[in-house]
Amino acid sequence: MIQAMSDSKHESPDSNQDDPADSLTDQSFDGIQQYDHPLPVWWIWLFVAVLLFAPPYVWYYHNGTQGRSLADHHEQELAEVLKLQFSQMGEVTADRETLVRFLYEDSWLRVGRSVFKSNCVACHGREGVGKVGPNLQDDHYKNIGDIADILRVLQQGANAGAMPAWKSKLSTNEIVLVSAYVASLRGSGDGSGKPAEGRVIAPWPQAPPPETDVTDQQKSPE
Ligand code: HEC
Repeated sequence: MIQAMSDSKHESPDSNQDDPADSLTDQSFDGIQQYDHPLPVWWIWLFVAVLLFAPPYVWYYHNGTQGRSLADHHEQELAEVLKLQFSQMGEVTADRETLVRFLYEDSWLRVGRSVFKSNCVACHGREGVGKVGPNLQDDHYKNIGDIADILRVLQQGANAGAMPAWKSKLSTNEIVLVSAYVASLRGSGDGSGKPAEGRVIAPWPQAPPPETDVTDQQKSPE
């Protein structure tokens, strides 16, 4: 077979000349012989190096030690960024006025979104489309009549713990920001989320006038 192939390969005019590079090895398997073309030395050493590199690499990154994987690093850095942002935000009070201010601060809503992603998505779905918990994108609410009720539901929970209380699990800043994010989800749905529950409530309050803008008291995270 190899012989036949090499014959066809050498049909060029100078094929009669013996090429020392095409010498055959001694072994013959079922009449099949192979050329004596050893792998280049650099290739062999690269292969050896890869073999030596792999076990320590696997041991270091995959032995279960916390804090070594890329995902762990990402989480640590996120937590640090959040801490930095909260230090810029200062201590806020969880009241209606503060919530309305943050509802119109896009850069802070993004921080609220990350709180939502890590604590609420399991029950309320991505972007609050609804799962076990109600759809947070529509105009219907079960426990909310006024925007301030979001803070109350977050702190105390609702429906005998079906919606857990977050007072002891999240900081006040986190509760305010995630509430603002939840409020911002209203009207963002495309109708494909969980069917509406509860009653339609009045629209959220308008943005506060510019002189009481949040940036006067708090610096923006960006
Ligand atoms: C264990 C599941 C679960 C988790 C986690 C959860 N929720 Fe809920 N949530 C519910 C359920 C269930 C309800 C509906 C309670 C009821 O029937 O009155 C609810 C209701 C609410 C409501 C009121 C909605 C309405 O129509 O009255 C808001 C706002 C809310 N959740 C926000 C959040 C936020 C923000 C988080 C994350 C910090 C969160 N939830 C985490 C299950 C959950």
